[in-house]
Amino acid sequence: AHVITQRCVGVKDQSCVEVCPVDCIHPASDLDGQEAFDDHPQLYIDPDVCIDCGACVPACPVEAIFYIDDVPEEYQDDIEGNRDFYRTW
Ligand code: SF4
Ligand code: F3S
Repeated sequence: AHVITQRCVGVKDQSCVEVCPVDCIHPASDLDGQEAFDDHPQLYIDPDVCIDCGACVPACPVEAIFYIDDVPEEYQDDIEGNRDFYRTW
């Protein structure tokens, strides 16, 4: 799976959403409605749906997305953060 780190917070550019072939990045304003989008500080990748195509990585203007094994030490909590979003959403 790929992981969106907290570098996305306050940016939420959504370029990643446009390039994802399996629509596994939420909440996106076009997929989930503006309210769900506004409620969350960043977007998250559903680890059970992501096919690791890698398309979202270069699409993000702030380099917020990493392959799960390449997530920097300071963003390790975001691995669980992405998964948690889909447990409670
Ligand atoms: Fe979507 Fe591919 Fe990024 Fe996974 S790696 S979130 S499938 S664009
Ligand atoms: Fe966030 Fe980058 Fe996507 S800022 S919404 S991870 S393009």
